[in-house]
Amino acid sequence: MAMSPPLRHLIESAAPLFAGEAEVVRTYWDSPARTIETDLRWLELQVFKEFKGSGVGDYDNRGVIMGPLTEVLEVLPRMDIEVSRHRIRDLLEGLYEEFTHLVAFADVYDAIRPEGTPRLDPHRCQGWDEDTALTQLRYRTLAEHGEIGARASKFSEGGYCTLFREGMRIADRGGNDALIADACAKVYDDEFEHMLSGIIGLDAEGMTDAEWAEMETLVGELLKARVVMRNGQFSNPLSPERVAEIHAGKIDPVAFDYDRAETLMAA
Ligand SMILES: [Fe+2]
Ligand SMILES: [Fe+2]
Repeated sequence: MAMSPPLRHLIESAAPLFAGEAEVVRTYWDSPARTIETDLRWLELQVFKEFKGSGVGDYDNRGVIMGPLTEVLEVLPRMDIEVSRHRIRDLLEGLYEEFTHLVAFADVYDAIRPEGTPRLDPHRCQGWDEDTALTQLRYRTLAEHGEIGARASKFSEGGYCTLFREGMRIADRGGNDALIADACAKVYDDEFEHMLSGIIGLDAEGMTDAEWAEMETLVGELLKARVVMRNGQFSNPLSPERVAEIHAGKIDPVAFDYDRAETLMAA
């Protein structure tokens, strides 16, 4: 299924900011400020995101795990009356995938933590300021821009899987980096599909030029907040000046994989 020109335009407008998020992670891997403590910190924060992070469309703002879990409990008695069994199966699949991501990153944490330090406690994992700011921007976008806001928020989820893609690239370094790469590889395919679910169907919505433009603006704001969120998660490997440059578009865009996206969308 070929994407329409306005959809491609939206993706191209997002591609420099996808690259910005990738630059955060890539810079971090070789940053002199990187220590076992900063590794444990970003892993713990990632477990928070996989456990309690606010996915868009998460039921009742309960987060990526409790959201679908609660929804399944509520809709199961109405299966094939008001809610299709396929919808419930999809919820369970998404739940299983996100739980698998939580486990993957928590396992890396436990594997690399120094001897004598406590195991990761997922219940104790807290969010961080820049992530809270992103979440609040998402909710504001939804509240103020209705359906277009919801589409923008969904489109921006995952930021083109840049964390996982950059994580996979350090596999050949061995040691802790190989463990990180392995976890990222486990998550990557799922998240590529989650990212696509924010793109699939956009062409069928019959959006006007003005609505496409509105969506592009909202996506840009969300992706800028994502770069800041990711930089905070990784103990700020990029300077505020570099983040400002990225926000201003001074960066080569990522090459969006249209072939893979269109093949998956057709399947
Ligand atoms: Fe995930
Ligand atoms: Fe996801």
